[in-house]
Amino acid sequence: MQILGMLAVAVALVPAPKEQVWRAGACTFVEKNVRFTRDAALPPEGYRLDVASDGVTVASADDAGAFYAQKTLKQLAADGASIPCGTVTDAPAFRWRGFMLDEGRHFFGKETVKELLDLMADHKLNVFHWHLTEDQGWRLDIPRFPELVRYGAVRPESPMHGCRGTKGDYRGNGQPYGPYFYTAADIREILAYAKERFITVVPEVEVPGHIRALLAAHPEFACRPDLPRVPCMFNGVQDEVLCAGNDEAIRFMEQVYDEVCALFPGTYIHIGGDECPKKRWKACPKCQARIKTLGLKDEDGLQAWVTRHFTDYLAKKGRRTIGWDEILAGAPGTETVVHNWRKPKYGIEAAEKGHDVIVSNVRETYFSVPQGVSDDPFTYLSPKMRCTLATAYAFDPLAGMTDKAKPRVLGAECCMWSECVWNEYDLAFKLWPRACAFAEATWTAPAAPRDFADFARRMAVHRKRLIAAGVNCAPLD
Ligand code: ACM
Ligand code: ZN
Repeated sequence: MQILGMLAVAVALVPAPKEQVWRAGACTFVEKNVRFTRDAALPPEGYRLDVASDGVTVASADDAGAFYAQKTLKQLAADGASIPCGTVTDAPAFRWRGFMLDEGRHFFGKETVKELLDLMADHKLNVFHWHLTEDQGWRLDIPRFPELVRYGAVRPESPMHGCRGTKGDYRGNGQPYGPYFYTAADIREILAYAKERFITVVPEVEVPGHIRALLAAHPEFACRPDLPRVPCMFNGVQDEVLCAGNDEAIRFMEQVYDEVCALFPGTYIHIGGDECPKKRWKACPKCQARIKTLGLKDEDGLQAWVTRHFTDYLAKKGRRTIGWDEILAGAPGTETVVHNWRKPKYGIEAAEKGHDVIVSNVRETYFSVPQGVSDDPFTYLSPKMRCTLATAYAFDPLAGMTDKAKPRVLGAECCMWSECVWNEYDLAFKLWPRACAFAEATWTAPAAPRDFADFARRMAVHRKRLIAAGVNCAPLD
């Protein structure tokens, strides 16, 4: 709701607050004019902002609420020397408002990650899902296992700029990529930076697929012993996966997760679990022996066993595991959070079974697919797909959910898979303004039908703020 008072004020907040009432008059915004108070009756992360001509009062029940009130003030103050008088009453629709960055395919580094965390906070996003391991690169230094970065964090070449880099469309650029990885000190720095911005960091270390870079370091844990010691150079799902029949491979992954838990003391660990081809397991005597010994039906049963093994392992360490929705096949305990990316039916099934669910609908939240703007210099992995700004704005994490399932939806994440994202300019162009639409879909969650024209009007103002701040935000056409 936006009520304009006598004075014609063009307020353009993104994400829109729940309620805003503007009056005649303005306050010259100076930071010392802000008074912070506590109101336990306000919801978590929520706030009330009163702007009077002689100063601003912020009320919130918690520090996060006061922080978000300041982010609202920052947008109001960006547009002029004074801010309009009025009242904003605000709180998030969803408690999980996430952004996933794939640094396995391309590595962006600490400074870009910090800039992203700042931008996330500006848009009231509060979960940074850090996808750190992939077929194409391992980005986590684990001193106990030095080969992981020695072999896994550097590849001999990448697809040539401008091609998608998939099997049929691969041309190598001949340029070594890396070594690129984060040290324990880097991670501590990022965690502290995120905490100051009320952002939870969720690391993702994949098992049993998307693990080719780990196998470059430790080919002894693959089903085939003759793997070259280099990460994958082209894009697409890889046949090489962890040998699930090898006890030492399982023990090794447990130790990797021990180290991940030491580096990331937070509650949530994402174990991936998506896209695990069964070709190698079908031909591997050890994997076949495991299937027989455990009385499993087939290779799908083996993946279910792997998933269950690691969710139980992390649960014993007091962590909550998140996995892409393939992990449902493993019937993990209901403390496991299911990250729905395939059809919505998997998210609904998970929620109805009692799992908390995070929704990342490919069509509406994968910002690695083309956004359909006319002037776009960048390459995309799925050139035929489209996720326009309007599509991103229409995203509803509760779409299709039954009344039983709805309370289980923690929220959502937008995802940046980086096969075709080469640098921070490319990344920013693909992320903004769609992530603004995503922020509104998860913070404000406007009722359907959503007023895209109103969002576009506000976005035109907000885009200028982003550009002025040096963000390579895509055009709005
Ligand atoms: C995924 O997009 N493979 C989670
Ligand atoms: Zn095997």
